[in-house]
Amino acid sequence: MNNLIKVITKDGSMSLRSEKFNENFHSIAGAYYETKSKFINPSILKRFQNKSINVLDICFGIGYNSALLFENLIKDLSTLNWYGLEIDKRPLDYALTDKKFNSLWNPEVIEILTSLNLRGFYKNKKFDCELIVGDARKEILNLPKGVNFDLIFLDGFSPQKCPEIWSYEFLSKLKNKIKYEGYLITYTSSAAVRKSLQNLGFNLFKIIPTCSKKNHWSNGTLATFNNQQDNPYITYLSEMEIEHLNTKASIPYRDPSGEMLSKEILEIRKKEQQFSNLLDTNLWRKKWEMA
Ligand SMILES: C[S@@+](CC[C@H](N)C(=O)[O-])C[C@H]1O[C@@H](n2cnc3c(N)ncnc32)[C@H](O)[C@@H]1O
Repeated sequence: MNNLIKVITKDGSMSLRSEKFNENFHSIAGAYYETKSKFINPSILKRFQNKSINVLDICFGIGYNSALLFENLIKDLSTLNWYGLEIDKRPLDYALTDKKFNSLWNPEVIEILTSLNLRGFYKNKKFDCELIVGDARKEILNLPKGVNFDLIFLDGFSPQKCPEIWSYEFLSKLKNKIKYEGYLITYTSSAAVRKSLQNLGFNLFKIIPTCSKKNHWSNGTLATFNNQQDNPYITYLSEMEIEHLNTKASIPYRDPSGEMLSKEILEIRKKEQQFSNLLDTNLWRKKWEMA
């Protein structure tokens, strides 16, 4: 595939590398492992057993996060109203031709993914799913007005590679689409993203890392308006992470028109960082003895 290269990650699951974004779709530790530890475990899907749930998967890509979501919700007899946003149809199309990917999922999940790939939707008695292809910044505006989400997965390429998905303005649109007790879940611990979410009124939690190495201080971020959490996969931000939000790294990505190029967003932020009085992020790193 032009610009997309197959990668086998350390847990044996397949993923892709984008030459355009110069980044892998998943951590090399494992595509399946990453989905489970960073998105599905912290979602606590058992809460929705025999109940209904609304989910928005932004940057659907190959579809790992939603495939594992579907698998769990089928088992739990939940009723699902689901939307996926993705700019490129090729990752799912390719994954469905891959033996390793197909062997991960039960036949019902493959049936849903195949229908999303061929028709853009899937519907049965319990599941109502629509995959919308286009720039998430525009397509978010085309979601039905009355639908608010219990879960929003945000799984774009990293903020430095794809800042348009992490801008303050884009995140503010998500604020308007999430339920009070809903979870916005992302793998990133970026100070700019966290600070934007905090400024939008979200409470921030870190997803507890599964590895104890010093540089793996977080498995991502869970943002919610509800401060009362009974969730073993998350905890409050550490002192180090709170200080991170006062460094120059916390300056947000800005995209007021919702149409700016990545390059423009990065340039404006860089200038803002140069003139900022906030703490130098390297000093913060040094203080906390990070490589
Ligand atoms: C890190 S990958 C997603 C990983 C994914 N969750 C999976 O399981 O494969 C990022 C995805 O974001 C998509 N993307 C990049 N820019 C986008 C945009 N503006 N709107 C929607 N999707 C975008 C890419 O095409 C890519 O599939």
